[in-house]
Amino acid sequence: MLKPSVFAKHRAAFMEAMGPNSVALVGSPPELLRNGDASYSYRQCSDLYYLSGFAEPGATVVLRTEGDSPYTLFVRSKDPEREIWDGRRSGVEGAIADYGASQAFSNKELRSKLRTLISNVDNLYYELGSNPVYDKLVIELLGELRQGERRGVRPPLRIVDPRFTLHELRLRKSEEELAVLRKASELTAVAHIEAMRAASSGVSESEIEAGIDFSFRRHGGTGPGYTSIVGGGANATILHYIENNQELSDGDLVLIDAGCEYQFYTADITRTFPVNGTFSDAQKRCYEIVLDSQEQAIAMTKPGVTIDEIHDRCVQVLTAGMIELGLLEGTVAERIEDGSYKKFYMHRTSHWLGMDVHDVGPYSVDGVARPLEPGMVITVEPGLYISADAENIPEELRGIGIRIEDDLVVTAEGNENLSTGVPKTVREIEAACQS
Ligand code: GLY
Ligand code: MN
Ligand code: MN
Repeated sequence: MLKPSVFAKHRAAFMEAMGPNSVALVGSPPELLRNGDASYSYRQCSDLYYLSGFAEPGATVVLRTEGDSPYTLFVRSKDPEREIWDGRRSGVEGAIADYGASQAFSNKELRSKLRTLISNVDNLYYELGSNPVYDKLVIELLGELRQGERRGVRPPLRIVDPRFTLHELRLRKSEEELAVLRKASELTAVAHIEAMRAASSGVSESEIEAGIDFSFRRHGGTGPGYTSIVGGGANATILHYIENNQELSDGDLVLIDAGCEYQFYTADITRTFPVNGTFSDAQKRCYEIVLDSQEQAIAMTKPGVTIDEIHDRCVQVLTAGMIELGLLEGTVAERIEDGSYKKFYMHRTSHWLGMDVHDVGPYSVDGVARPLEPGMVITVEPGLYISADAENIPEELRGIGIRIEDDLVVTAEGNENLSTGVPKTVREIEAACQS
């Protein structure tokens, strides 16, 4: 686990950004039923984890800039009977001893303590509209505090959305967070290589998915940071294909978009490779275009550049490739101008990466794309998706879907590619598939 001092640093930075006489309230999402009375396995909300390192459900973090107790944690109290059924709990003692809370209370006390904690502050940082249980509690407490105004108790003056400050912090990763992301990427690389070896005609996408999951966990990861995509043949042209229930076929490509979550941070890596270990001529031509666009985009990733500029470079290279392949006619400028390239490349090239696969943080400031800064982490994931029933295109290109996705840390000099452990050139991929 990340050291408690890392979470303490996160809290301190957030409180600094909140300004004086402020309180922040961040609560866990509810546990979700999958079907009947069976629950999904619980994943703490990233904001709460970022501030506390506390992974149990039923937790509330309250940060207060004034007073002797800046960090209050509300948790499920210890309960030997429930713990036999649902697992161990830290309880209020553990919240203080292991998670550095200045004070901790059982959830039963949330309402009454919170009323005091938020009274008379100027700003209540709370993400209204995301969790009806907390929304109701906050709104009721505001009403209750209004009743006390004659006694000198008042509700907060302002409710402020915490995301704009908190997510700005999450956008820039510390050395400790980068170390965790590096590890997540290393574990992901191992799984992708194992998948390249395991894939062959007749093997099901589901077996490949299971192998990836097994590999992630066997080496210390939590599991996939998002549902793995394993798409053989034309399934690769469905961007978020997660059914993963078809057999791989000789002569097809398979696209795997899978990232291991490690200590609450996830990698997000995509590779596309031939099921039988050798690219066909048509597949290779498509692949080299996507790879060229990605390599150019990676080469330009450095402080000052924007995600829009990276995307534009990929669109340029991919559109030129589409014309070369006979997918489009005319000039690159014309096809970018009329947007027809989007028939074969319809998504953006990059997103933030961190605790969430599509990590938080604004992409633009005052409507203008923001320049990259050291410590930001992005993916670069161009692709080419040719539908199986696309008309008026060369027959051999139909049903080819390719995406190549790497994870980059922006550094002072340029970038650090976290995904270099996964084969990427045609030669490297064929060697890995055939090993
Ligand atoms: N795996 C989702 C994405 O690449 O954005
Ligand atoms: Mn991605
Ligand atoms: Mn991905």
